[in-house]
Amino acid sequence: MQVILLKDLAQFVGQEVEVRCWIYNLRSSGKIMFWQLRDGSDFCQAIINADDLSKDKWELAQKASLESSVKIIGVVNKHPKKEEYEILVKDFDFFQIAEEYPISKKDHGIDFLMDNRHLWLRSKKQWAIQRVRNTLIQATYEFMAQNNFIKIDSPILTPSACEGTTDLFSVKYFDETAYLSQSGQLYLEAAIYAHGRVFDFGPTFRAEKSKTRRHLTEFWMMDAEMAFVNLDQNLQTQETLIRFMVKSVLDKNKAELVILERDTKILENILKPFYRITHAEAIKQLQSLGSDVKDGEDLGADDETMLTKQFDNPIFITNYPSRIKAFYMERNAKDNTLAECADLLAPEGYGEIIGGSQREYKYDKLLKSIRDHKLPEKEFEWYLDLCKYGSVPHGGFGFGLERIVAWVCGLEHVRETIPFPRTIYRLRP
Ligand code: 4AD
Ligand code: MG
Repeated sequence: MQVILLKDLAQFVGQEVEVRCWIYNLRSSGKIMFWQLRDGSDFCQAIINADDLSKDKWELAQKASLESSVKIIGVVNKHPKKEEYEILVKDFDFFQIAEEYPISKKDHGIDFLMDNRHLWLRSKKQWAIQRVRNTLIQATYEFMAQNNFIKIDSPILTPSACEGTTDLFSVKYFDETAYLSQSGQLYLEAAIYAHGRVFDFGPTFRAEKSKTRRHLTEFWMMDAEMAFVNLDQNLQTQETLIRFMVKSVLDKNKAELVILERDTKILENILKPFYRITHAEAIKQLQSLGSDVKDGEDLGADDETMLTKQFDNPIFITNYPSRIKAFYMERNAKDNTLAECADLLAPEGYGEIIGGSQREYKYDKLLKSIRDHKLPEKEFEWYLDLCKYGSVPHGGFGFGLERIVAWVCGLEHVRETIPFPRTIYRLRP
């Protein structure tokens, strides 16, 4: 007997097969039962007819409950009108008859669902989200390999901050204090001098007390770094990467996007060029929309929402004032008060998905910036060293995977984009 996945049912019409599944819904009418099955790869309906089973098996079938796990032998049947397949059950055995399942069809509050995240992951919508996330991860690796990047695994335990000292998680590290990494960027900068183009992709940590729908304390970042590029080339790489990722989801996750009720029209704009505006223009536009953001200020979460609702494709916001950006950013050649940088904002109110910039690669300027930011000079000696031995113009960026998943799936909050979210209120399950 061939054991098959539900996604492959179409290849076995008329044949007897074995499948191993969970029952996510069931109903019965007289001598027929209908089990809605799920095996991780897809969904289908099984039809259990009393006339096809022994008396004992029919009685056992009555014990089926939501989430019971079952091995089924049956014949694959195609729906006469739709592209749907069902299984006419010849025999079955339970792996386990499940206890009463806490998640029912009635509306549960988000706290209840999050407390039961270990079970909620099985729901159809949550299944679809993780599949989209997986596609975005796979597409990233594929794109980076095709574009001559190699993966460099940056450390998670670090002695100092990359993005700013206010939101670090500290851990006792023998006799000293270590911090969980906010971004692997600085280590990648070291690696470009060996490999030219590198990336990392792993968990990063921010102890921000932010309660917005965009913030997690643990999230997955992909940092990329390239030698010999200017800002325009840096942005071009970001744009083609994001286009490739979204296109992959549109191609590979059609069923998932239907489950998520995602309007894919806007996502299809991804094939067109992204918008580019300067920070100063963004502020003007926000002020005209009624925001009280001042010239030269950073954009708050609400500003990003307001601004990006005006757009139908991602928007690069370039040249933020360097005063509000990280110490390592190079200055704009024409206006020294501006950073040679850009954030990429997703449209439809989603906001920042990428932070990127050119890096200061001249020793004196970098040292001055480290001092101006009052960073511990000693901890940055190795980073300053990079400016001494064959320093080159370079740049890179980092994306937040969960922010991209939220946007592509059309979700209200990033907490559903990661299997087990960590926020200021949640460390469990
Ligand atoms: O803009 P950020 O802070 O940039 C950096 O860390 C750079 N060192 C990256 C680099 O140039 N290599 O963070 C990068 C991205 C943001 O654009 C956002 O998508 C995501 O990481 N991010 C978060 N996602 C979820 N929760 C949080 N608390 C996040 N903070 C940043
Ligand atoms: Mg940022």
